[in-house]
Amino acid sequence: MTVPRLAILLSGRGSNFEALARAVRDGMVPAEIALVFSNRPAAPGLEIARRLGFETAALAGSGQEREAYDRQVVELLRARGVEWVCLAGYMRLLSGYFIEQYRGKILNIHPSLLPAFPGLEAQKQALDYGVKFAGCTVHFVDETVDGGPIIAQAIVPVRDDDDEDTLAARILEQEHRLYPEALRLVLGGRYRIEGRRVIMA
Ligand code: GAR
Repeated sequence: MTVPRLAILLSGRGSNFEALARAVRDGMVPAEIALVFSNRPAAPGLEIARRLGFETAALAGSGQEREAYDRQVVELLRARGVEWVCLAGYMRLLSGYFIEQYRGKILNIHPSLLPAFPGLEAQKQALDYGVKFAGCTVHFVDETVDGGPIIAQAIVPVRDDDDEDTLAARILEQEHRLYPEALRLVLGGRYRIEGRRVIMA
């Protein structure tokens, strides 16, 4: 049986990549991770991927024009037969070109209950705002920043004694659970998108 081929794109630590890789290894997510890619050649997540035996690639992203850069990335993905792309802490905006090439097949995880607190430092934004519930969101990627249709969310209560680190750590635990679950649902193919709503069959 052939399984969908995934690429994971990351820029840093790579803990969400590790959670996805575990889920694939354990058979919870029927897929193959064909490539782990980074816009930061020194990203710790790449090193972890190499140690786990995955193929990796990196292209330094800073100062590169967005579409020209993404054309190179898409070429790397196509050469490996990648059908689905999971952004896992990939801190570079995708060009319209990339999104068009993989329309409806790009997932992202964001550490807030979107549409609250898109962009950078979502956990700090939540604390500063004073919300009582934070969380994380897995969503399809479209041309908007952190704005595509929502696949799954998890709620994390904010405690009075939370600081950015404690809150981020509790959200991260949920991210590691939620991302594989959302990916499994989507790869199962039993959903439809109505407007902004992702409806599971
Ligand atoms: C995660 O918290 C992820 O939700 C966030 O970056 C972190 C990456 O951690 N992503 C974003 O903020 C995207 N807008 P990781 O490298 O350990 O997976």
